[in-house]
Amino acid sequence: MNILAVESSCDETAVAIVRDGREVLTDCIASQVALHREYGGVVPEIASRKHIEAIYALADEALEKADMSREEIDAVAVTYAPGLIGAVLVGVNFAKAAALSLGVPIIPVHHLKGHIAANYLAYPELKPPFLCLVVSGGHTMIVDVKDYTDLEILGSTRDDAAGECFDKVGRVLGMPYPGGAALDRTAQLGDGTKYPMPQPKLSGNPLDMSFSGLKTATLNLIHNCRQRDEELDVPSLCASFTKAVSDMLVPRTMRALRECGYQKLAIAGGVAANSRIRADFEREVKAAGAELFVPPLSLCGDNGAMIGSQAYYEYLAGNIGDQSLNAYATKSILGETL
Ligand code: KG4
Ligand code: ZN
Repeated sequence: MNILAVESSCDETAVAIVRDGREVLTDCIASQVALHREYGGVVPEIASRKHIEAIYALADEALEKADMSREEIDAVAVTYAPGLIGAVLVGVNFAKAAALSLGVPIIPVHHLKGHIAANYLAYPELKPPFLCLVVSGGHTMIVDVKDYTDLEILGSTRDDAAGECFDKVGRVLGMPYPGGAALDRTAQLGDGTKYPMPQPKLSGNPLDMSFSGLKTATLNLIHNCRQRDEELDVPSLCASFTKAVSDMLVPRTMRALRECGYQKLAIAGGVAANSRIRADFEREVKAAGAELFVPPLSLCGDNGAMIGSQAYYEYLAGNIGDQSLNAYATKSILGETL
């Protein structure tokens, strides 16, 4: 089954063609990152317009690169939630028109389920059940992937997403948007023990996380240093911040893994590209005698292939949309409107 998959929830317009959920025939991305950089973050209105400008040509490019005709497409999949509403709407409307004109089903895909599915592309042998830490610019949660379309959230951030904090700290340090990747590179040159960071104690669910206190503490440290004209060891600050994020993510995820009794842990989303977080998971998962699944960097960030992969399993489960499909800025990974 050849699925043409569309992703437009933030600042990447992406169209991929994926066969049977696992084989990427083509994965085309038009990134808007450089455009938004001068504003220090995504400007939603610009994002929507650029998606409209890019999406038609990108779909043609995807067919051309896969050497396929439109008749060979069996279904159209699209990210319908969550994301910038204007941006998601562009993808949904394009997908509805494409499905209608091709006479094929439309498959709505939740963006975060797509991030998890990036692992199916990277690891053809990976099958549920497994545990997955989803860690992106807008979300941070530990998910029990019981089956391809049967998920349970075991813990999540109570405030900011981890990626949001990387971006905010990066921005204050003058790094180009989105700050995560640049902060990661800078951190590799620093000493992660130099600046002690707060580790909040949370009551309630022991698998829940929090990042806003860490973000505020890091920003205060930077501002105080600047006000006092003290020298800031930027690489070590980046390393200390990243260590604190990892110390929030890794022990909770490992605890969830023990409690589930699974031997397989996957990580997903843009922040899964972080070298320190990857290394910490590799060490801990190995010590636990379990297996770690981490998508290559190209599949950690937003892309169309991951949507095409999850779409196949949604299709098999009968989760098919129609021309009344709408876009949603917020919707839980379990499908509830928030
Ligand atoms: O999954 P994603 O591409 O988009 C969302 O669904 O949000 O994640 C983007 C986030 C941004 O916050 C970006 O700074 C972060 O992923 N990111 C990183 C790294 N690469 C991207 N954060 C830390 N280290 C990285 N190497
Ligand atoms: Zn994403």
